[in-house]
Amino acid sequence: MSTRSVALRVRATECVGMYTLLRVQRGPIDPGLPGQFFMLRAEGLLLPRPMSLCTAAAGELGFLIDPIGTGTETLARLRRGDEVAVLGPLGHGFPLDATRPVLVGGGIGIAPLPYLSETLGRPPALLGFRSDAHAVAAELVPQADVVIDPVRVTEPLADLLVASPEATPLACGPEPMLEAVARLASHAWLAHEAPMACGYGACYGCVVPIDGELKRLCLEGPTVRASRLYEHCGDALSPAQARTAPEAGVAA
Ligand SMILES: Cc1cc2nc3c(=O)[nH]c(=O)nc-3n(C[C@H](O)[C@H](O)[C@H](O)COP(=O)(O)OP(=O)(O)OC[C@H]3O[C@@H](n4cnc5c(N)ncnc54)[C@H](O)[C@@H]3O)c2cc1C
Ligand code: FES
Repeated sequence: MSTRSVALRVRATECVGMYTLLRVQRGPIDPGLPGQFFMLRAEGLLLPRPMSLCTAAAGELGFLIDPIGTGTETLARLRRGDEVAVLGPLGHGFPLDATRPVLVGGGIGIAPLPYLSETLGRPPALLGFRSDAHAVAAELVPQADVVIDPVRVTEPLADLLVASPEATPLACGPEPMLEAVARLASHAWLAHEAPMACGYGACYGCVVPIDGELKRLCLEGPTVRASRLYEHCGDALSPAQARTAPEAGVAA
């Protein structure tokens, strides 16, 4: 698998509930493994923005974008024929040999799950959203059970882990959700986030504590085993107890 930087043409942008699916021609870019990411830069942006690969249809790369600021709004406004600079694939993806994988997503954290689901043969998925409008994006993930705030996605996950303790959560979502998943399952894999300016180890903008030391997430992750990120892993409540704990997880 080789990392490349290429200017690609936009094929389409589609509304998916509150998010935008940006579909670009694949060109010579390798889609990489689910959970790896790409740096995307559109005209007018000084810095690229990190994005997970959401869909990998033939000849295409799809990115699900939550327009929360200048960079993501610029990317979401692109139209057919516009050019976008794409660098990737970067970082480490989710493990593809996890025991009984269960996909867990919160809000825009579902972005890497459609590609992961297709790669793993459509395992069960649990998704949490803050509203029905956001939950429209669940249509991208096969076999998904959906909860809406105030129900937390970690509630059905706790039930599932009680029934199948060997199941491995592969999760992406906001920090409080990831922390709650870690509390339930120290063997979970989490797609973590940090501000990234380069994506390949040069700027040190993405350092986070991993294994108790500050490390560059773009090189170590973004997918990291939960026990490497959170000290409280393993000393946690049992899944059954955690289900009733008030702080156990959020749906973004
Ligand atoms: C590996 C990786 C993969 C990602 N995949 C996706 C994806 O598939 N789809 C998607 O929509 N977004 C994804 N993101 C997040 C996305 O890159 C940021 O939202 C984006 O860079 C923000 O840029 P902006 O200019 O739009 O917003 P800014 O104006 O820079 O920020 C807007 C607000 O968001 C906060 N913010 C910015 N970046 C982050 C971040 N990384 N984590 C938490 N808060 C942040 C800022 O503090 C600010 O409050 C990913 C991030 C990483 C690190
Ligand atoms: S994003 Fe630049 S070092 Fe990680």
